[in-house]
Amino acid sequence: MLKGRHLIEPMDFTNEELEGIFDLADDIINNPKEYAHVCDGKILATLFFEPSTRTRLSFEAAMLRLGGRVIGFSEPNSSSVSKGESIADTIRTVGCYADIAVTRHPKEGAPKLASMYSNIPLINAGDGGHHHPTQTLTDLLTIRSVKKRLSNLTIGLCGDLKFGRTVHSLIKAMSRYENNRFILISPPELRIPEYIRKEILQKNNIPFIEVEKIEDCIDELDILYMTRVQRERFFNEEDYVRLKDSYILNAEKMTRAKSDMIVLHPLPRVNEISYDIDNDPRAYYFKQARFGMFVRMALMAKLLGVVE
Ligand code: CP
Repeated sequence: MLKGRHLIEPMDFTNEELEGIFDLADDIINNPKEYAHVCDGKILATLFFEPSTRTRLSFEAAMLRLGGRVIGFSEPNSSSVSKGESIADTIRTVGCYADIAVTRHPKEGAPKLASMYSNIPLINAGDGGHHHPTQTLTDLLTIRSVKKRLSNLTIGLCGDLKFGRTVHSLIKAMSRYENNRFILISPPELRIPEYIRKEILQKNNIPFIEVEKIEDCIDELDILYMTRVQRERFFNEEDYVRLKDSYILNAEKMTRAKSDMIVLHPLPRVNEISYDIDNDPRAYYFKQARFGMFVRMALMAKLLGVVE
């Protein structure tokens, strides 16, 4: 039962609970009119302390498509946080006005802290380099829809594996399905954090290797998950400039990939995927963004308890 629950990190829900969300998302995709009024009278609050295009707008579109309405702010200077109000007081106040809330925050753990003070379901839309659980739901729904399974997959994760919260959340989630294998592609400076390597991969005997070049492994992959080198997570500009173009996936590299490999990317992209592969049928990143809206519709309907 998901009614009234928060979603702070991907492991908050069991695989069975996730399956329920994905099954509902599939039904919404196939029968959108049946869900057009299930959130009539409900209000979503969007509290974004960091920029966003896809996450915020897909949440807003999701609530509007369910018949509900949206309030919120998209940058902290337009809220009383700029006067020094705590996130705890902010979420307590928002709970007086809205039925469900979603927040993005640059500080790791801020949504978890807020959830302890929230009397309405709170969804983490990304906290620093930590987690981005609804991106993970988006990724899993996309993989399930295209590959028809979430197990027996070789998954390449490429780019900023150190700060990339979407990567951390996806590894955790995909590690719970059988027989998945990871190839971690990054420069030495942006390798996966030690706690993911030890506590998730090694502890659970999940096979993985770490490499520096896409060319060394692209022919083995079922999924290639590209990520951006994130300027906002670096402490100095020099390091960012040195590393920002470490990987550029282009048509030449794609010739070595399997015919059914899929390319995913949480977006936004900067340079890491060349525009010349956007029309390759294996490029799924914009379809992935659309799946994100449907999975957020399913998630909110479940947390609000308006659909079983
Ligand atoms: N994938 C993602 O989180 O995109 P935004 O930063 O645009 O929300």
